[in-house]
Amino acid sequence: MQKTLVLIKPDAFGKNHAGDILKIYEDAGFKIIAAKVMKMTPELAAKHYVEHIGRPYYPALVEFMTAAPIMAVVLAGEDVIKKVRELNGATNPAEAAEGTVRKLYAQDKTKNAVHASDSETSAAREIPIFFGACEIFD
Ligand code: PPS
Repeated sequence: MQKTLVLIKPDAFGKNHAGDILKIYEDAGFKIIAAKVMKMTPELAAKHYVEHIGRPYYPALVEFMTAAPIMAVVLAGEDVIKKVRELNGATNPAEAAEGTVRKLYAQDKTKNAVHASDSETSAAREIPIFFGACEIFD
């Protein structure tokens, strides 16, 4: 069973859209096998966003992600990595397709409602940053 990490970011979580977003994934047939509300520390952000360190938007990204609670979720199912990214829509909500999470709930490239792993390698790296083995029901 393939797994992916989703982060419901502070913008969407703060506007009480966590349930709406999780329903989109569940309605698509995916199972929630881990979930928690948490604070992303700067250290956690540096681990998760290691590929983005040094990019011009990195300081604003970390400030945004650490300022308010996020919800970390592991979803499981067939082809879940690709399908969840399709459900989320483009990183830039202005380019996101109708009906996608980002079209519905995101504002811009930073306040873009959700993160989802982009490959099996990323999912395998990202999931243990947020969850211990006994926190995942798989
Ligand atoms: S892109 O557009 O291809 O660079 O996007 P991607 O590599 O998939 O993800 C970039 C992550 O950084 C966040 N972010 C921004 N990206 C681009 N430009 C700006 N200004 C920016 N600000 C923040 C973006 O939301 C992506 O976060 P995640 O959590 O991975 O979706």
